[in-house]
Amino acid sequence: MVLNSEPVVETRDLSIGYLDEYDRVWWVVIGVNLRINEGETYCIVGESGCGKSTLGNALIGILPPYAETRGIIRIMGEEIVRDDKHCYWKSRGRIVSYIPQNPGKALHPFMTIHVQFKHLYRARGLRLDDRGVAEKASRILELVGLDPDEVLDSYPHELSGGMQQRAAIAMAVSTGAKIIVADEPTSSLDANLRLQILKLLRKIKEELGITLIMITHDLVQASKNCERIGVMYAGRIVEEAPVKEIFRNPQHPYTQLLLETVPVLGVVKELKTIPGEPPRPGEYPPGCPFHPRCPFRIDKCSREEPVLRKINGKHYVSCWLR
Ligand SMILES: Nc1ncnc2c1ncn2[C@@H]1O[C@H](COP(=O)(O)OP(=O)(O)OP(=O)(O)O)[C@@H](O)[C@H]1O
Ligand SMILES: [Mg+2]
Repeated sequence: MVLNSEPVVETRDLSIGYLDEYDRVWWVVIGVNLRINEGETYCIVGESGCGKSTLGNALIGILPPYAETRGIIRIMGEEIVRDDKHCYWKSRGRIVSYIPQNPGKALHPFMTIHVQFKHLYRARGLRLDDRGVAEKASRILELVGLDPDEVLDSYPHELSGGMQQRAAIAMAVSTGAKIIVADEPTSSLDANLRLQILKLLRKIKEELGITLIMITHDLVQASKNCERIGVMYAGRIVEEAPVKEIFRNPQHPYTQLLLETVPVLGVVKELKTIPGEPPRPGEYPPGCPFHPRCPFRIDKCSREEPVLRKINGKHYVSCWLR
């Protein structure tokens, strides 16, 4: 496969906020610069509330109307501007697709899987009769490990959680999209199903040449499925590096503490928690947003915010100590 040298997903100084009833904007994504290459799996990790889903939703174009966006999002070289709904619509579904945390969100409860595929193909401009839909959908259902005879005429509630998530993945790839954002795709599943779905995501990514953006709060999951990790804290990407580098040589104190919260195969260690809570939007402290929880903070950390800078190769960190 010839890979495009330009990133397929790029953001420049992207900030996203939500308007409240008094027209105040609460910024929850701040100054994010992403460059994700064709065929890559990029993982966004961070604690709850740090803005992962907001960032993912912006890339797919499903932010609510009361969201405000600053900066640039470029998908396959095309700039998508939030206020330009038409532009957004062009990229949504056809170029960028979505696997949600809860497959119930992707599947219509009152339509059989067959009818849902029919609508999906129609939206892509494919006019297929029922048989054509069944044939085309069967191929993709088999790819995700489902038996079309069992699934096509079923309603979502007749499928198990794992089957629903597989059906949701089948639909996400059936849009023909080459970029998929998977937001916590396994967090509603038990441990065994979680591994199966992660394996499936790797398989469809390889077979269909998809660029996958995974959102998770689970570093172990991130390590198994991706090439690069962006660690998010208080709306910012505070560290970004290839997965091995993040695990072997974490530089940001937040990343280091996050790693102490997860088990490592073959290593007996006490699992820790990160003391304190991440700040809420509107309550970000001055300086480095992590400084109140950081065991290594120096005076400067509470005064000036560090910028994300390259420390080597593909490793970037925003910390005054590096
Ligand atoms: N639709 C919305 N309207 C208003 N505020 C929102 C909306 N969605 C998210 N927020 C707020 O934005 C902040 C970031 O939320 P977001 O869901 O992006 O974080 P997250 O990292 O995905 O969290 P989690 O791991 O819990 O899914 C939170 O304070 C959240 O309350
Ligand atoms: Mg989320």
